[in-house]
Amino acid sequence: MENNTNRIKGKVIAITGASSGIGEATAMMLAELGAKVVLGARRLDRLEELDGRIRAVGGDSTYLVTAVKNRVDVDNLVKLACQQYGRLDVIINNAGISHLSRIDELQVEEWEEMIDVNLKGVLYGIAAGLSVFNELDNNIDSFSQDVLVSQIELILIHSNRFYTRQFNTRKTVYIDLIDTMNAYLDERFDPERSVVFGLPTVQEVSDHLHISARYLTDLLKSLTGQSTQQHIHNKLIEKAKDRLSTSRLTIAEIAYQLGFEHPQSFNKLFKRYTEISPTAYRQSFN
Ligand SMILES: NC(=O)c1ccc[n+]([C@@H]2O[C@H](COP(=O)([O-])OP(=O)(O)OC[C@H]3O[C@@H](n4cnc5c(N)ncnc54)[C@H](OP(=O)(O)O)[C@@H]3O)[C@@H](O)[C@H]2O)c1
Repeated sequence: MENNTNRIKGKVIAITGASSGIGEATAMMLAELGAKVVLGARRLDRLEELDGRIRAVGGDSTYLVTAVKNRVDVDNLVKLACQQYGRLDVIINNAGISHLSRIDELQVEEWEEMIDVNLKGVLYGIAAGLSVFNELDNNIDSFSQDVLVSQIELILIHSNRFYTRQFNTRKTVYIDLIDTMNAYLDERFDPERSVVFGLPTVQEVSDHLHISARYLTDLLKSLTGQSTQQHIHNKLIEKAKDRLSTSRLTIAEIAYQLGFEHPQSFNKLFKRYTEISPTAYRQSFN
């Protein structure tokens, strides 16, 4: 990493999505290697906290609340780099979201959100960055852009490695977290709560655990091989089986009590996970 350190030292690097996950780890690593980092994301408290951590280890950083769906926000992030440090060398368009769902669930609004953040947000970053890149403007030589890109790629590989490795090194902490999640889901499927609040969502569970939805899913996949959504469904099926075998409630009543708006959706999900219908499952106990 010696050569990389020399190339990174003093570079002004803006990072979107710097408030958690890969963006946060990359920002910290670049700052430790001597870059001046310009942090952007929507959660101000997380940016302030990261900025404090960078400064505590002698790094140099600044930050701005940046929603990448707003082109003006992204332009302002780049302007901040120029105002504070006199230029921008690199922009890492890292901010992104991933809403996982079956295509036939037709979560069209979530698809649009992903296009706005993951595609348009990145394009706004490219547009803002290209207009000020000193190295490109100065055109030091025809390889300089490739050199920079390959260095950043290397850093992202290291960050990803660090990000993935933590799921093993912090296993005990995360097993406690899974217990907390299961306890929350147990309470959440209490009939009185599910009727009012509907089915628990991935976002809701991760908010309860104070971690991002993406991070929770990565963590669960690494420890259990299953996503957050699958864990929610497993708990739901466990509760459904219990009520089908021990209560006299109708199947529609059980569906409503679990938080479904339509009993047909419950039937479909139950069958997907167990390969038999709720009615057939109940009959197997008679
Ligand atoms: N982790 C993986 O295995 C993996 C795999 C493939 C691709 N990726 C991509 O790599 C990137 C980082 O992933 P991650 O795992 O580090 O995710 P993460 O922990 O969920 O972090 C996403 C970051 O993006 C920011 N963000 C989300 N929506 C935003 C918006 N509208 N405007 C501005 N910032 C926004 C979030 O900050 P705020 O909420 O504070 O705005 C957060 O800092 C994402 O683009 C992700 O899709 C990750």
